[in-house]
Amino acid sequence: MSANVLDASAARLFIAVDHTTMMEQIDGILRLMAAPEPDVPSICAGLDALAGQTREHFDREGEIMRFLTDQDAEAHRRDHARLLRSLIDFTEAIRSGDKPVSMTTALDLDTWLMFHIQCFDAKLIAACGA
Ligand SMILES: [Fe+2]
Ligand SMILES: [Fe+2]
Repeated sequence: MSANVLDASAARLFIAVDHTTMMEQIDGILRLMAAPEPDVPSICAGLDALAGQTREHFDREGEIMRFLTDQDAEAHRRDHARLLRSLIDFTEAIRSGDKPVSMTTALDLDTWLMFHIQCFDAKLIAACGA
């Protein structure tokens, strides 16, 4: 097995583990949002932790992208910036009360990362090779 194969396997593993961690964080926040009387400070603490994990994950994917050519790295990086900005804005709106904790806001969070993983990250994982 060559070093490149090992690196590609490690890259795919890092991405998968990060995604699982983020999905678990999102599930935890959605459970808090579904409570009869949602605790906004706890929800915001969860969202802040998610933003921290998201930053680390995007940095890791950025490092992986530097070694790959067969993917749309610029559009991918732009979508990372957009997602992080939208998460920070979402958190501040929940914290300030501008955005109520509701089924609609929970759905926004539930779908926040989904398209990105299915579109950009799927291409990145494919570009890592077999
Ligand atoms: Fe990504
Ligand atoms: Fe990702």
